[in-house]
Amino acid sequence: TKNNNKPELIILIGMMGAGKTTIGRALARELKMDFLDLDHEIVRRCGVAIPTIFDIEGEDGFRRRETSVLAEVVEQKHLVLATGGGAVMREENRALLQKGRIIYLKADVDELFARVSKDTNRPLLQTENPKEKLRQLLELRAPIYSQLADVTVETGSGAITLTVRKLKDAL
Ligand code: S3P
Repeated sequence: TKNNNKPELIILIGMMGAGKTTIGRALARELKMDFLDLDHEIVRRCGVAIPTIFDIEGEDGFRRRETSVLAEVVEQKHLVLATGGGAVMREENRALLQKGRIIYLKADVDELFARVSKDTNRPLLQTENPKEKLRQLLELRAPIYSQLADVTVETGSGAITLTVRKLKDAL
């Protein structure tokens, strides 16, 4: 059965606000695997928050850190990894992501915006019109998420447990 074939590395991709961290943590618990959030790991290593990294080093600096941490953590086994929304944009990262079973958590722009609108921890959305920015990022990234994904799950308004169950069945 599928369960005998459980992947050793499961990677969640998708936009900011798609629920990668929440779903990833719940899925890891359910599968008795470890969980790591790539952004949290970057922050842990830098000792400063993501907006501070963007302030000091710009997005480029953040992306370099993201690639270097990603390269390390994809070597882990028994891991569910939640990535940042932009992690799929570098060719180099896409090659690294292929080491895992890739899950795309899909949501539309209204849902995404509802989940991130009060958040100040996402520097890319610190603009005059964050919803428009999200829309643009989604338009650019959606084809890449879809193309990379082994499994796509719509997160919608459904409960976390429902999404986790769908994922477990699809893996
Ligand atoms: C980003 C998403 C963030 C974080 C950074 C950049 C992006 O992660 O990596 O702010 O480019 O979409 P989340 O998807 O966890 O919010």
